[in-house]
Amino acid sequence: MTVWGFVKAVVTAPFLGAICAAIGWVNAGTIIFLDFVVHWAFGLEQGLISQVALVVAKHLPLVFGVFGFMGAFVSEVPVQSVFGTARWASAKDIASMAGKHRAGLIIGRDPQKKALLRYDGPSHLMTMAPTRTGKGVGTIIPNLLTAQRSVICIDPKGENARITARAREGFGALHVLDPFGVTDRPSSCFNPFAHLDANDVDIAEHAGTLADALVYDEPGSSGDVHWNEEARALIAGLIMMVVASEPPHLRHPATLRDYLTRPPKAFADLLTRMQESDRCDGLIARAANRHLGKSDCEASGVLSSAQRHTHFLDSPRMKRVMERSDFCFADLKQRTQSVFLVLPPDRLGTYARWLRLMISQSLTEMVRMRNGTSPVEGVTASEAMSATWGSQKKEAPANNSVLFLLDEFASLGRLQAVERAMGLMAGYGVQLWPILQDIHQLRALYGKGANTFLANAGVLQVFGVNDIETAELVARSIGKRDAHYMTASHSEGKQTNSEHIAARNLINADEIMRLPDDRMILLRQGHYPAKLRKIRYYEDKEFKGLFDRI
Ligand SMILES: Nc1ncnc2c1ncn2[C@@H]1O[C@H](COP(=O)(O)OP(=O)(O)OP(=O)(O)O)[C@@H](O)[C@H]1O
Ligand SMILES: [Mg+2]
Repeated sequence: MTVWGFVKAVVTAPFLGAICAAIGWVNAGTIIFLDFVVHWAFGLEQGLISQVALVVAKHLPLVFGVFGFMGAFVSEVPVQSVFGTARWASAKDIASMAGKHRAGLIIGRDPQKKALLRYDGPSHLMTMAPTRTGKGVGTIIPNLLTAQRSVICIDPKGENARITARAREGFGALHVLDPFGVTDRPSSCFNPFAHLDANDVDIAEHAGTLADALVYDEPGSSGDVHWNEEARALIAGLIMMVVASEPPHLRHPATLRDYLTRPPKAFADLLTRMQESDRCDGLIARAANRHLGKSDCEASGVLSSAQRHTHFLDSPRMKRVMERSDFCFADLKQRTQSVFLVLPPDRLGTYARWLRLMISQSLTEMVRMRNGTSPVEGVTASEAMSATWGSQKKEAPANNSVLFLLDEFASLGRLQAVERAMGLMAGYGVQLWPILQDIHQLRALYGKGANTFLANAGVLQVFGVNDIETAELVARSIGKRDAHYMTASHSEGKQTNSEHIAARNLINADEIMRLPDDRMILLRQGHYPAKLRKIRYYEDKEFKGLFDRI
């Protein structure tokens, strides 16, 4: 019983007790009267029965009164719900998300108390909101300005890096990979082949993951599955060859491109050398055999497919940004660092493979480093790279999982490394936050695999919804409640009222689509759904002085 319920009971109990005692008194009078009438009518002597009736009648008002008094303290028995028990998070539920010690990722604002709400759990997060609805100003930038942990952020317009660079530099080293010079900052470099080791037992898997990132067809264009599959195998074999046979300064993607564009005679010589190689457990030789075992026609089809997928490596900008590594992704787990991957929207189509390479390689290195050991046995990642962070050493934060803010997630295309990571939890030290426009984008890329994303998102932010499918998905996820209504029927001059119960969504799809501009719906696993206020970093006091205007 709540405090308010108890106070109410204390006030009503004397009245209820008095009413019930009065009812008991009426009943006692009735018993005595009936006893008298029966004895009088039949001329009976008053004996034992009359004595019992008198005792009962004497105590009846007291018994009724006590029951009445106590009845006030009995809580109402909850009525069983028939169709559903969905409800919105109460003000208290929402206030409990405010987050102690200002820790955790910012996920919205309390609509009543106005406090920032946070999530400090290990699950992945997801945001679905159409363009210009505030994904940047309400989700990405507030977290970049405040999260004292390592972050990898896809930044299509370069605005996240420009607005938050000062704040991020305050937390640790900052690496802006900006091949097209959008941010006016000198670009850092990262060579995705730098950590491949021909003696690693998992070299085939790692080369395969990179090949998977390279072989990509834009959504809508139908790349042939067979050619893509064979091109992937050829590219993986050639990557192993680059790693096993080239000197360190040539172990980068440009050399792979050089292999694939050699004249026919030189390419045939390369394949012969690969056949003779016993490195990587003979997998280099097998890749060459697989290619040479094809008919001329098929082999040239596979080669041209591999050439198509690596065409973007001809760009001198790409070559420059991948020819060496200024940092190591695995070190993000040990020291707070920030990596921005900047690619302007008009280049996303052509250079999406670069983003795919970066995200795949970063995830691979994170997972390999989950026990704090370097991919190269016995050497820590820092030692392996011996990069120039000396002046910026910062202790790793308590929650040292690396946050991946994946803006424009759909532009990455389907990426197995991401799908795998989404299914893994924080034990691997990564927390993904894919940011999408709607559910169509996720389904178009991952088909049934989209459910993996939804099931593993501990937090789902939805706002500005303008498509019915997303709205219906959210309405269904929120669930149903009982709706009570009355009907009246008239028959032979009499009116009969009946009460009915029907199922109703707590919020319908059309109501989700009409949500005010400043509101969002937040779904958290194991909690009631909440309607929260959106954040706008540029006008909210908590972020004042932290960001730079652009
Ligand atoms: N500093 C600012 N001052 C005022 N308004 C701003 C500022 N920055 C952004 N806005 C406005 O806030 C709105 C949301 O911007 P935001 O960049 O968050 O959109 P988005 O959801 O990330 O969209 P997109 O898909 O285009 O990236 C836009 O209408 C934008 O004009
Ligand atoms: Mg944006």
